[in-house]
Amino acid sequence: MLDHIVGKHARDKQLESNILQISQDAKALKKQYTDVIDGTVGMLHHEEGNIFKFSVVDDLLHHLSDPEMYQYAPVRGTKAFTEGVFDWVFGPLAKKMREQFKYCVIPTTGGSGAISNTFFNFNDFGQKVLIPNHYWTPYENFAYEANIELKTFLMYDDMNRFNQIDFKEQAFELAKKQNRLCVLLNDPCNNPTGLCMTKEDWQLVISVLNDVASRNIPVILIQDIAYIDYQMKSTEFSRDNFITYTDLHENILAVVVFSGSKTFSMYGFRIGAQIGLSKNQDILNHFIRVGDYSVRARFSSVSEPAMSVIGKIFSEPIYRQQFVDEINVARKLLKDRALLFLNESEKNDLEILPYCGGFFISIITNNKNIFKDLVKEHVFVIPMGNLIRIAISSLKLSEIPRLVKILKKYI
Ligand SMILES: Cc1ncc(COP(=O)(O)O)c(C=O)c1O
Repeated sequence: MLDHIVGKHARDKQLESNILQISQDAKALKKQYTDVIDGTVGMLHHEEGNIFKFSVVDDLLHHLSDPEMYQYAPVRGTKAFTEGVFDWVFGPLAKKMREQFKYCVIPTTGGSGAISNTFFNFNDFGQKVLIPNHYWTPYENFAYEANIELKTFLMYDDMNRFNQIDFKEQAFELAKKQNRLCVLLNDPCNNPTGLCMTKEDWQLVISVLNDVASRNIPVILIQDIAYIDYQMKSTEFSRDNFITYTDLHENILAVVVFSGSKTFSMYGFRIGAQIGLSKNQDILNHFIRVGDYSVRARFSSVSEPAMSVIGKIFSEPIYRQQFVDEINVARKLLKDRALLFLNESEKNDLEILPYCGGFFISIITNNKNIFKDLVKEHVFVIPMGNLIRIAISSLKLSEIPRLVKILKKYI
């Protein structure tokens, strides 16, 4: 009755995060039973159940000077952080990207802060952002908060490949309707599906965006790369698809979203970045202008200790090497679980969506009661529309064979 206490635009706000709730239910049951399988948590854990932390991060954190620990972080970030993030994200292509693009790295409160600010600044209220029909649900919250909406295209074709045709159709339709095209792709290692787009998929996406941009329609490409460091393919090739960016039309703004949560396991520190790229300096200037403003207006600046630690790792070779060695261990941990899951699925004839990396494996199901059926067996996963998402990031190897058998029974 007293809902007029909130502004009109906030009256329907209701955070319905089934992910957090289910995760808490799983933890509660785990205290009572030893056979509970918790496939809900999108944080990397060791086999023993403790969180995977990087000792180089831990050591550096414990030896920061007072200013590195306590002062406000600069809004635009330190050079060690921003240039380091750029080099890490683009890897062997960093030099080429610097030659071809004007760019700016703006530190944000995680990848979440980066997406939220980008949604807000690069759409008119009421407009829609194009995303695939399987997506990380907080995108809905970022959109609602920014007074915009999401429009989906079909992620898969009938061969379970990226659906180039539907992407193209929906992109053209949306661009024509609202005279703006803002696309968000969470790739590689999509959450929830594990899909990695191919180079041909990216070429197609960029040719569609270029076509729209050539008609003088504003085009923004947001690429959420939260799980880029957890691909199944060798790290040597993990940045290859960025080469397709070099064909981007000069009036397009690309915003690559980096997450310190996933790359450094610094989930609670809230650090990430939006990397703005455009061939056009004026467009980049707008990105910097509104980006700086929103950082200050929405969260002031980011975590200084996290920025200090990441800056040191990226700028001092000894720490960088330590980090690279450790992330290889993290990658192997995840890969071993994924391979076992894939093997067991094959053995048990359980059809999963093609998995190429990341923290999650997904399965399509027609069972509307799947969640309850699984809970009866003490198995917790996240239902998302017609699929269930299993976080292999927090599973133990020993749990996987039993899990796959139970999934097969109820799918
Ligand atoms: C697809 C995806 N993007 C972005 C993020 C952002 O994470 P953070 O805000 O912690 O950097 C997450 C976290 O779970 C994610 O799954």
